[in-house]
Amino acid sequence: MRRLAAILLGASLAVAAGRPGAALASGPGGSPHLMTKPDGSLDKKVCEACHTADMGLVGKKADSCILCHGASPHSGAMEHMQANPAKVADLLSTRPKGGPALPLAENGGIWCGTCHIFHDPKVLGEKWLEHGWVPPDSGLSGVVREGVVRRWDAILAARGAKGPAGSWATKGTRQLRMPYEGGVLCLQCHGALR
Ligand code: HEC
Ligand code: HEC
Ligand code: HEC
Ligand code: HEC
Repeated sequence: MRRLAAILLGASLAVAAGRPGAALASGPGGSPHLMTKPDGSLDKKVCEACHTADMGLVGKKADSCILCHGASPHSGAMEHMQANPAKVADLLSTRPKGGPALPLAENGGIWCGTCHIFHDPKVLGEKWLEHGWVPPDSGLSGVVREGVVRRWDAILAARGAKGPAGSWATKGTRQLRMPYEGGVLCLQCHGALR
């Protein structure tokens, strides 16, 4: 059962998140994660979206994301943020050696930045993925997607409204510390499921 749950969560992780609209400092294309000016230098104005003038953080690490993305941007995010730090340490202790760092929250728990890169690669040399990934329309992920859309539409219909209630992401994000494809990221902690 555990394995199936992980696959289902993965298939649903790519539900399109609401586009944040905070009128804060942002880089090219409105993303504060792109921090390079056209001349190739770092745009220090963008740092202000999350950093104070002396480059401290305004609150806890996760606060700097939740401000724009909300606390539950996609399925699985909230559950992981609430995972017991002792359990996180336990799972990470079985992690294959030599992979990129998966930085933890202040209390040793998981936060957005455990899975995601949020700085421009120019800031700390963290490499974004070459390309994003979306689960295929066929097979299990296709069935899950259809089922979710049907459920959402039924919820709307029960309130006398008409769909579509939501849409699926059409491109995956490059801002992950390791690829989601093939379970690479997830198996860092859930390798024992293999
Ligand atoms: C989207 C939010 C966000 C933006 C925008 C941002 N940072 Fe950060 N930055 C963070 C967070 C959160 C941390 C703490 C990460 C940690 O401790 O794991 C951090 C940490 C850092 C660190 C310390 C890294 C370390 O490993 O100790 C540096 C240096 C840094 N940021 C530079 C910058 C610069 C320069 C900019 C602007 C060009 C910038 N940041 C923009 C969120 C942001
Ligand atoms: C000032 C608002 C703001 C803050 C703060 C912020 N983000 Fe974002 N983020 C955005 C916007 C806007 C986009 C959408 C960019 C786009 O559509 O290309 C985005 C996109 C993303 C994406 C997906 C990019 C893609 O490929 O579609 C991830 C992952 C992400 N942010 C993670 C984080 C994390 C982690 C933090 C905290 C460290 C954070 N964000 C803080 C505004 C913000
Ligand atoms: C356990 C790992 C994990 C954690 C924790 C996590 N994410 Fe994600 N996130 C993912 C994966 C996997 C995807 C889907 C990747 C893809 O599109 O290929 C994703 C996708 C996203 C996207 C893009 C959604 C889209 O529309 O394509 C955003 C934005 C995002 N995450 C923000 C956050 C924020 C903010 C937090 C913290 C509140 C967070 N994530 C916590 C793994 C995680
Ligand atoms: C940094 C470690 C880490 C990463 C990376 C990670 N997880 Fe988890 N995950 C956890 C922890 C800790 C729990 C809570 C386990 C508990 O309380 O027993 C958890 C719980 C879960 C659960 C709830 C079921 C259970 O086993 O309790 C699912 C499903 C899950 N993760 C799927 C994923 C998927 C899919 C990914 C990749 C997108 C992923 N995880 C990435 C650490 C991680």
